[in-house]
Amino acid sequence: MKILVIYAHPSHEGHCATILKEVEENLKSKGVPYELLDLYAIKYDPLLRECELYGRDIELAKDTKKHQQQIMDSDMIIFIYPVWWNTMPAILKGFIDRVFSAHFAFKYNPVIPKGMMPLFEPLFKLVYNRFDYGMPVGLLKGKKAVVFLTTGSPRLISYPWTGNRFKKIIKKDMLGFFGIKSRLYHISNCRVLNEWKVAEIKRKVRCALKRIR
Ligand SMILES: Cc1cc2nc3c(=O)[nH]c(=O)nc-3n(C[C@H](O)[C@H](O)[C@H](O)COP(=O)(O)O)c2cc1C
Repeated sequence: MKILVIYAHPSHEGHCATILKEVEENLKSKGVPYELLDLYAIKYDPLLRECELYGRDIELAKDTKKHQQQIMDSDMIIFIYPVWWNTMPAILKGFIDRVFSAHFAFKYNPVIPKGMMPLFEPLFKLVYNRFDYGMPVGLLKGKKAVVFLTTGSPRLISYPWTGNRFKKIIKKDMLGFFGIKSRLYHISNCRVLNEWKVAEIKRKVRCALKRIR
């Protein structure tokens, strides 16, 4: 099994950094090959270009092709990031916008039976002339993901207020859309990194990676 670890935090101290350290130690101790993609460290440019908008002839940037290859070469992706304004840091959002592109991570299949297509195609092209049309299909089926996310607020506060949106966005709206099955580990109440928090992180990382060998 080959793993791609995507780290989206500007610091190498704190809760996310501790998760990363534990993940790396766990994988190294088992001899599992992995690659670390530290988005801040590589100064990843998250701005989607006009030529990358889908529905047109997409022109992929060189770094996008490289990251798509890294994804294709891995069986599992491990995401580590803090929740900021109820979602992921912008650098990771931009990475997903640019790298999980149409015809790589998903496509739309026509809903019309094949034989009827010539009849309907002009109409569809007129209505959705800038987009593909049909039912979305994830193209990354078979790949798996583990998501570690941290929040400043405790579970009891973040859930009733946000209805778990920060979980659904990554698990369902993004990874699920691409066909990737994921497991999510939430470390809440991340204010002071004390020995209890470190113990919780160690326990969750061990649990998340126990089937990986
Ligand atoms: C810009 C910003 C936005 C944040 N938004 C949220 C939020 O919406 N919900 C929450 O529970 N914590 C929020 N926090 C707190 C972070 O989630 C928390 O500091 C982080 O998970 C702790 O992990 P770390 O030690 O690795 O930075 C925010 C922090 C920052 C800097």
